[in-house]
Amino acid sequence: MTASLPYRRAAALSPFPAHAQPMSAERVHALEEADRRHMWKPFTQMAGYVAGTPLVIGDARGNWLRDVRGRVFLDGVSSLWVNLHGHNHPTIVAALKEQLDTLDHATLLGPTNVPATMLAARLVQIAPGDHLTRVFYSDSGSTSVEIAVKMAYQYFAQHRDASQRTRNVFISMTNAYHGDTLGSVSVGGIDLFHQVYAPLLFETVKAPGPDPYHRAFGQSVAEHEEECLTALKERFASHHGRVAALVMEPLMQGAAGMIAHTPDFLRRAAAVARGAGSLLILDEVATGFGRTGTMFACEQADVVPDLLCLAKGITGGTLPLAATLASEEVYSGFLGEHSEYRTFFHGHSYTGNPLACIAALASLKVFRQENVLEHVQARIAQLAARLEVIAAHPHVGDIRRHGLMTGIELVRDKATGDAFDSTLRMGNRVIERALEHGVLIRPLGDVVVLMPTLSVTEDELDLLTGVTLQCIDEVVGELA
Ligand SMILES: Cc1ncc(COP(=O)(O)O)c(C=O)c1O
Repeated sequence: MTASLPYRRAAALSPFPAHAQPMSAERVHALEEADRRHMWKPFTQMAGYVAGTPLVIGDARGNWLRDVRGRVFLDGVSSLWVNLHGHNHPTIVAALKEQLDTLDHATLLGPTNVPATMLAARLVQIAPGDHLTRVFYSDSGSTSVEIAVKMAYQYFAQHRDASQRTRNVFISMTNAYHGDTLGSVSVGGIDLFHQVYAPLLFETVKAPGPDPYHRAFGQSVAEHEEECLTALKERFASHHGRVAALVMEPLMQGAAGMIAHTPDFLRRAAAVARGAGSLLILDEVATGFGRTGTMFACEQADVVPDLLCLAKGITGGTLPLAATLASEEVYSGFLGEHSEYRTFFHGHSYTGNPLACIAALASLKVFRQENVLEHVQARIAQLAARLEVIAAHPHVGDIRRHGLMTGIELVRDKATGDAFDSTLRMGNRVIERALEHGVLIRPLGDVVVLMPTLSVTEDELDLLTGVTLQCIDEVVGELA
């Protein structure tokens, strides 16, 4: 062991009573069987999955999850980057209970409803800048991007200035991830996930996203970002007058393995898009709602997009909801007589669901009442300090972090940055070991992702980082 980080064990920190078995053995068995027989799980090779014992989560308290066998786990990835204030936060639960007795759902095609209307006004209030004035709801991060892409396309297709109607090209970044619907996959760039669908996608132009860890030998990070910026300018130049929008994840390409760029790169990339008369779509599905230390990541670069995609944390992690915020200028391009067919013909059955919207309003109330963005700064500083220790491990090649969003890249050779053989599934081994220590995390390949909730406590963050380092060390030690 090279170094260790002290922590108090999960059993000592968990808010659940010790040795409690929440369910009978028969019920547990029946649930596990039903899962093996009938579930088809996301991003999961089911052949391997059904051979194992499913982890069936039964209940949650604060930042902790408990499975039906009574094992407790710190939620180290905020239930896939959605939870913000801990599970079942009383403010959100109370708002939801009241809303359930008032209005469960009513369509937004025609009527409107109280929570959806209030939330739209509130989102506009907290949105960066002052030109994002319109909110279009949907239900997932993928649809929030799908909608932004369709809006940008249609905006130019029916532009009142005919010379703008040639703008139908989308530029997006290599390694981008914007979701799994075909439009969002088209602007994405992770071949591993999406190669098979290539014939179904529309063509987009890819610009190299900064990837400082894999930059050319001898190059500084600033030079690397400059090179990416030059390539971006070239893409715009070779599609002069034809680009509808640049699509980006601000500051952090999450699903690619937490690949970070600087606010300066974002600011300059946005300026390139603006200078070329293109719209800017920022996908803050992962980075939004405090994850990077500010409410929205783009605030750190002083950039305001024309279309802003929000989902994941929007409800504090309770219910599916997404919002695409549009500028008044984009919105006004859709106004006209019925006979002009400028309408945005898009909508989902559950658009603006009152329960999801009230949860989002309650989550924003928690931000205010608990000074979340102020308090989280101490946890961010603690995380940064602990990651310095992890970074020294001989098999940790790189650590990327913005706020609490963290990726720890495991490598076979620290000096050369050479990866482990992918069949070893090192990231997976680490997270499986972490489960044994009561910590639930998830890798992206050989990148161990840490994404604690904004309400993570000092002790919990010590546990998360301490167990992560210990498990990395154990797992690579076993290979020797
Ligand atoms: C940046 C980004 N955009 C879009 C999505 C897709 O969101 P969803 O899984 O809610 O469709 C994700 C999901 O991880 C994401 O990280």
